Amino acid sequence: MRFSLLPAALSIWIAGSSSQFVKAPTDLINATGYAGINVRYKEVPTGICELDPNVKSYSGYADVAENEHIFFWFFEARNQDPTEAPLTVWINGGPGSTSMIGLFEENGPCRVDSNGNPYSNPYSWSNASNMLYIDQPTQVGFSYSIITDGYVATSSDGTKSKISIPDGICPDYAGNTCGSYSVANLSLTANTTANAAPNFWKTLQGFMGAFPQYSRNGFHFSTESYGGHYGPIFNEYIEEQNAKKIPGAHHISLETVLIGNGWYDPLIQYQAYYNFTVWPGNTYDYSPYNKSVQAQLYNNLYGKGNCIDQVQDCYDRGINEICSAADSFCANFVESIYDDYLGRDEYDMREFVPDPFPYSYYQDYLNTPKVQSAIGAFQNISGSSSAVYNAFTATGDDSRESGTIEALRKLVAQGVNVVLFAGDADYNCNWLGNEVVAGKVQAPGFENAGYINITTSDSIVHGQVKQAGHFSFSRIYESGHEVPFYQPLAALELFQRAIGGKDIATGTVKLVGSYLTHGTAKSTYREGNATMQFEVLPGNSTYNTMLNGPDKIQRRMADARGVGILSHAGRKFKPGR
Ligand SMILES: *[C@@H]1O[C@H](CO)[C@@H](O)[C@H](O)[C@H]1NC(C)=O
Ligand SMILES: *[C@@H]1O[C@H](CO)[C@@H](O)[C@H](O)[C@H]1NC(C)=O
Ligand SMILES: *[C@@H]1O[C@H](CO)[C@@H](O)[C@H](O)[C@H]1NC(C)=O
Ligand SMILES: *[C@@H]1O[C@H](CO)[C@@H](O)[C@H](O)[C@H]1NC(C)=O
Ligand SMILES: *[C@@H]1O[C@H](CO)[C@@H](O)[C@H](O)[C@H]1NC(C)=O
Ligand SMILES: *[C@@H]1O[C@H](CO)[C@@H](O)[C@H](O)[C@H]1NC(C)=O
Ligand SMILES: *[C@@H]1O[C@H](CO)[C@@H](O)[C@H](O)[C@H]1NC(C)=O
Ligand SMILES: *[C@@H]1O[C@H](CO)[C@@H](O)[C@H](O)[C@H]1NC(C)=O
Ligand SMILES: *[C@@H]1O[C@H](CO)[C@@H](O)[C@H](O)[C@H]1NC(C)=O
Ligand SMILES: *[C@@H]1O[C@H](CO)[C@@H](O)[C@H](O)[C@H]1NC(C)=O
Repeated sequence: MRFSLLPAALSIWIAGSSSQFVKAPTDLINATGYAGINVRYKEVPTGICELDPNVKSYSGYADVAENEHIFFWFFEARNQDPTEAPLTVWINGGPGSTSMIGLFEENGPCRVDSNGNPYSNPYSWSNASNMLYIDQPTQVGFSYSIITDGYVATSSDGTKSKISIPDGICPDYAGNTCGSYSVANLSLTANTTANAAPNFWKTLQGFMGAFPQYSRNGFHFSTESYGGHYGPIFNEYIEEQNAKKIPGAHHISLETVLIGNGWYDPLIQYQAYYNFTVWPGNTYDYSPYNKSVQAQLYNNLYGKGNCIDQVQDCYDRGINEICSAADSFCANFVESIYDDYLGRDEYDMREFVPDPFPYSYYQDYLNTPKVQSAIGAFQNISGSSSAVYNAFTATGDDSRESGTIEALRKLVAQGVNVVLFAGDADYNCNWLGNEVVAGKVQAPGFENAGYINITTSDSIVHGQVKQAGHFSFSRIYESGHEVPFYQPLAALELFQRAIGGKDIATGTVKLVGSYLTHGTAKSTYREGNATMQFEVLPGNSTYNTMLNGPDKIQRRMADARGVGILSHAGRKFKPGR
């Protein structure tokens, strides 16, 4: 890999500029969790995310193995006694994405504004539950292995790598990329979903033992995107560990698994890229390809030796090289046709890239000395760990089904409430693919369930649900990949109903095995193209959840100027999935 260093590479070092690095915390409290897991943590001061002084927040690490330290950030439930509240974990996907995405863009207690100030999120999921955000596997987000001072180099093909700086002084050619980072070490992280599960379990054991007061009233798990892999496998692992009755380990009473816009089954979901853009298409009346591109996409998918054949070969033989090659073929020649021809955001078809939504101002916030010391950070944060992404790529985990659907089936059989949902403007893990996956789970009674409207307290219909007993699939309207950002009220109410063991449609029926929604076989509502944007939005646009798009004032400004000026171009990171 060749790095395109600027000519400035030859120039002098900036003297004494070591302040770009993170000062390791010295104020962490030690505790021993369940299963002998060591935990180090601190109370996060009011104002760093949660603004209410009566609602406590803690961050820290579970030391799950030598040189493997998994970061967590916990928030007490609001408006109730947190020692009586349920506990919910949220993790993002990637693989390699930090869960600070979920915390700050989606369902956490705060967001960060363009001036770098946190403000309260009234639709925080902590309104209904204690919330625990975990960065995993090791090296993702604030989870660290062996830390080095370094900078980020970008190669000619756009790949980013961390280069360590032996003398601890930031060279000027490093620009503003200097920081403290985990050494990219593939043996100090996971490279498949299955082998990430044990350290996730250990982190829960550590947290629950250090904070038993917050872990008393049921455990719920929530995720999205690559969480379609993590969610089923990690939770089935939890059930297996429970069954072993390991001395010193805590029985985790898993009640709910929520997965939004999941990546479960590549064989199904690579086909869904065709369905979403060509036939039967999306519900935004957006049919972007001409006949020749449609034919090209079809051939890249179904032609002999192409995507589907390769993924099938991966399923049949399970060889790393085959799975990895299949994934790369499908990503480049099936999934990416959308990017190549349309320039739209894969995570929200309604917008072009760079998409100013969801806001990413919190990344700079998390990289300030004030916040780093408040949460006890050892390293700078990046949205996505390329080391972890590369580790998973080497095994082709993305193109393996990995037993996700069977694990969901088992969880349903074990009495866990499995709640799948999908924002219907997301292309990446689109709802058509998620809907097929939901059917394959073969939850008892589900084939007889029909779609009915979801009613929420604002009396606006935000989607439909199909549910049988404690298994449901919801389609959420006017929403990209990160549903709690686009539909915060509906997401919070769906979450409350899910963890309360109530029906998703109304939240008024206590679920029993025979519960069944009677409705249409297909969800046929069409948004049409009213919220489709046909120009790039200014980087400082604000999203209006009543308009389901940018605030009008900025739309007019953008109209007046033609294409918006993008101050945040290229700085935005997104989950791989
Ligand atoms: C890393 O953290 C340091 C210390 O707070 C900060 O000065 C630096 O700008 C951060 N680096 C990046 C790339 O954000
Ligand atoms: C926690 O343990 C570490 C390592 O054993 C020690 O250096 C540190 O002082 C301890 N912290 C507290 C608050 O006791
Ligand atoms: C969530 O809790 C906060 C803090 O108590 C409150 O201001 C807000 O209105 C609540 N949100 C909802 C949707 O009830
Ligand atoms: C990676 O981690 C392993 C296990 O701790 C260690 O043996 C090895 O030296 C590390 N490699 C690098 C390049 O740091
Ligand atoms: C795609 O469309 C075909 C034909 O209508 C259908 O058989 C298949 O189940 C669909 N798959 C997905 C993932 O939407
Ligand atoms: C179809 O669309 C592609 C991509 O925009 C373009 O390159 C090609 O010329 C078009 N083909 C026809 C026949 O219009
Ligand atoms: C994945 O990780 C396992 C366990 O650490 C290791 O044995 C295996 O060699 C790794 N596979 C690849 C392709 O790196
Ligand atoms: C469901 O909601 C739609 C609006 O999305 C509405 O037109 C329809 O009448 C509702 N159906 C029922 C049965 O209430
Ligand atoms: C939006 O859809 C309407 C029909 O509902 C159509 O007339 C119009 O051309 C579409 N607009 C764009 C920009 O595609
Ligand atoms: C957005 O940025 C433009 C120019 O970059 C500026 O004129 C406008 O006032 C900004 N809007 C807001 C809401 O900050």
